[in-house]
Amino acid sequence: MNPSFRVLVVDDEELYARAIGIELGRLGIHADLAFCCSEALARADAGPSRYQAILLDHRLPDQEGLRIIPQLLVRQPGAAVVVMTAYHTIPDAVQAIRRGAEDYIVKETSIQTIIDRVLEIRRREEVRSAAGGWQELHHLDLLGRSPSMIQVMEQLAKISKSPQTTVLLTGETGVGKEVAARALHAMSQPADSPFVAVDCVALPFNLAESLLFGHEKGSFTGADQARAGAFEEAGDGTVLLDEIGDMDELQSKLLRVLESRVFTRVGSVREIQLRARVIAATNQDIEALVEQGRFRHDLYQRLCVFPVHIPALRERGDDILLLAEHFRSFFAEKLGRDIAPISDEVGQCLAGYSYPGNVRELRNIIERAVIMSDSNQIELRHLPRRVLAADGPPAPFPGSVPVDFRPGVDTLESLEKRMIRHALAQTGNVKTEAARLLGISRFQLLRRIERHGLKSDDKTGNPGSGS
Ligand SMILES: Nc1ncnc2c1ncn2[C@@H]1O[C@H](COP(=O)(O)OP(=O)(O)OP(=O)(O)O)[C@@H](O)[C@H]1O
Ligand SMILES: [Mg+2]
Repeated sequence: MNPSFRVLVVDDEELYARAIGIELGRLGIHADLAFCCSEALARADAGPSRYQAILLDHRLPDQEGLRIIPQLLVRQPGAAVVVMTAYHTIPDAVQAIRRGAEDYIVKETSIQTIIDRVLEIRRREEVRSAAGGWQELHHLDLLGRSPSMIQVMEQLAKISKSPQTTVLLTGETGVGKEVAARALHAMSQPADSPFVAVDCVALPFNLAESLLFGHEKGSFTGADQARAGAFEEAGDGTVLLDEIGDMDELQSKLLRVLESRVFTRVGSVREIQLRARVIAATNQDIEALVEQGRFRHDLYQRLCVFPVHIPALRERGDDILLLAEHFRSFFAEKLGRDIAPISDEVGQCLAGYSYPGNVRELRNIIERAVIMSDSNQIELRHLPRRVLAADGPPAPFPGSVPVDFRPGVDTLESLEKRMIRHALAQTGNVKTEAARLLGISRFQLLRRIERHGLKSDDKTGNPGSGS
């Protein structure tokens, strides 16, 4: 038992949230409830590391649950956010992973799936802390052999020759922007020089300037001591301005600093030379922000001297397997487990998934698989459902039914069931029509509907009714 394991359940269906809370309570897990986004944020504000898991409903009354994921993670770094969603909103759930959620769960009548997921997270936390924790994996090299990653490394190597040039790193969440920034730092700045990362989302409005540039004693209420800011602390190392798209009122000041390469502490006129390299990173479409007038065009241009785009994991071909193997051996070693290299079967399945959460998602998937594996290998059943169910290549024309030949995914039986479901959906449940599409008689169709159990327990509709 881990008494410090706490869960935050955010759902506006009070009964549902309470039911989850009660079930968790029975298992000795403390759950706090919140019924809207602002309440959730207030609870998350109460102190870091308060929650290890956050169950977040997708639709909430005050705003979309998905929108607050980054804010929740700033307040509760390291918490596993699991989005609860309805079947028809799975595409949005994928967005949730893009925003930093770890997983999504389709809300079902039984809440057992949700409870199981929480138990799994708790088990992982226990295993992690028993192994001494490994939140920080950032000191790794930038692994990858795909042409797109080699190009990134070549760009970084070139930039490393000019240690004061500003760099803009773009790419989806979890692609490794911070890893790339650290790699560039290691290549170009003096050994042992500091690497200071500032998360612009987390900068409190009234302290932002002081955190970046420092302040003198007495320069504002509460400034009872002089303090250096990130730019000063970085010395001749690197300042990473993460999530630069979220920097607002300081944009013009930052532009001036980048242009003049001098800055002043709040409450002082003494100019300090900027010696560090500034790297800005964002997973937002910063050009769109510029167009919308939310990001200064001149600052964007100033940052863009050396733009480096880190490609999404799904565009890196065999790097998926290379990284999966890397994480397999990393976690196996951390846990003192003997886990065989990833099999072809599992590898093929991993390679077919789209990874909206990129390398971070792959890392979580492998960590979970290693923890779940009760033998000395990772099997298909240790992979999350969303990976097993990946649709593979898109259907070639409207109305076609995709087939996934990866082992353990589609069978003749499952395909027949899917074809029947599609035919019924396409004909608005008119069975005579559906039977015609399938090339069988209406009677044969009815028997197959029954055999596949489509009548009673199919979740995508109720083909049992209708003509
Ligand atoms: N090429 C890589 N080789 C090894 N590990 C990687 C690589 N890329 C990413 N990772 C791992 O994936 C995780 C996410 O990487 P990182 O934090 O750098 O992503 P990011 O692009 O900054 O994401 P975000 O936009 O969410 O801040 C980290 O655990 C990191 O160690
Ligand atoms: Mg990052």
